[in-house]
Amino acid sequence: MTKPKHILLIIGGGIAAYKASELIRLIKKAGMTVRCVLTESGAQFVTPMTLAALSENEVHTTLWSLKDETEMGHIQLSREADLVVVCPATANLLAKMAGGIADDLATTLLLATDTQVMAVPAMNVRMWDHAATRRNISQLKNDGIIIMPPEEGDMACGEFGSGRLPEPEAVMTEIASLLGSPFLPVSGLPQSELGPNPLEGQPAFAPDQHRPLHGKHVLITAGPTREPIDPVRYIANRSSGRQGFAIAAAAAEAGAQVTLVAGPVHLATPAGVMRVDVETALEMEAAVEAALPANVAIMVAAVADWRADNRAEQKIKKKGEAPAPLKLTENPDILAGLAKHDRRPDLLIGFAAETEKIAEHARTKLAKKGCDWIVANDVSGDVMGGADNSVHIVTAEGNEIWERLPKPEVARRLVQKIIEEIS
Ligand code: CTP
Repeated sequence: MTKPKHILLIIGGGIAAYKASELIRLIKKAGMTVRCVLTESGAQFVTPMTLAALSENEVHTTLWSLKDETEMGHIQLSREADLVVVCPATANLLAKMAGGIADDLATTLLLATDTQVMAVPAMNVRMWDHAATRRNISQLKNDGIIIMPPEEGDMACGEFGSGRLPEPEAVMTEIASLLGSPFLPVSGLPQSELGPNPLEGQPAFAPDQHRPLHGKHVLITAGPTREPIDPVRYIANRSSGRQGFAIAAAAAEAGAQVTLVAGPVHLATPAGVMRVDVETALEMEAAVEAALPANVAIMVAAVADWRADNRAEQKIKKKGEAPAPLKLTENPDILAGLAKHDRRPDLLIGFAAETEKIAEHARTKLAKKGCDWIVANDVSGDVMGGADNSVHIVTAEGNEIWERLPKPEVARRLVQKIIEEIS
């Protein structure tokens, strides 16, 4: 009989800590064992007693426990685990992890471990969007930590946005997938009401069988950018962001870790996708840089080619005469920049909007931008902002045409093509 998988669960101090109890129940139900480490602030939200009762294991809270040093060294705590899960991972805990600080039991274990670590952040939307947190997340990804992005929704603090801890079932599905064990999300029902588990006795799925992009980071830009002229006026375009968002959803469905850098659009964040909202081309460029490294980058955004030379601090007033001509500066080409980047993604895909000689123009763009594929939209009809898309996929090998298809279908086909290319 194979040994059950063992999880070390580190619980940080946020209101979402209460969800750790349900996660422990699901881990146990999946036939795994779990041992909890509670930070000092985590103990303000859940008690060691509750966690010990649910996990059927002693709960560890302090670095300075003599008993632990004789019976189970702190290093051993993390070494015996098949996976270390930090849930909820607060902004403070993530910052300490990114900085290599080890000033309590949780952070000491995280610095000492050689086991895969998955962090599930949860915090207020402004903390999540703060440049420091963005930097820390980027650093942690670079260090090989798996980040399960938070969800968008109402928060305990009364605000709305990204930062909510995903439901324990979703976290459990991710844990099972990382460990290559099947997990059937069966919320709330006791095992007796579920009947036999159809997967019992079956060999565990290889993670890549049902989540072929598992372990891959896919970076996507989507939507327009908005270039301010003064506090009330801007330069923009008609891009709706629908195609980029559909690709992000399809890549997440295929198991990828997805970062979606979105210009101003009215679209909900697809499940399991980490979204970074930006407004201008320069902000988009910085967000793309912060999200690196990525295995695949798909630049779908309709980036404004120019921005106003000088943004007026105050609203420009009519003066009864012709206004001064608007002076424009060219924006950086984010796609071409990535192609020359020392951390260039393995597969770099650009989009192009064309109204005529589609394949010919796309091939010229492929060479000019230095990317691997160009997905050329035929925008002669109502594609921009519409539900369907007709595309040419232009690569070094040749040219494929996908006649008018709904945007989610274009997304799925593109993700399938990516899977074939990188597997
Ligand atoms: N792109 C970018 N940064 C820019 C401009 C474009 O990353 N500053 C990316 C887009 O996201 C897209 C591709 O480059 O992947 C489109 O290139 P672009 O030259 O803008 O093509 P078109 O929009 O088709 O414009 P044009 O025909 O005027 O060249």
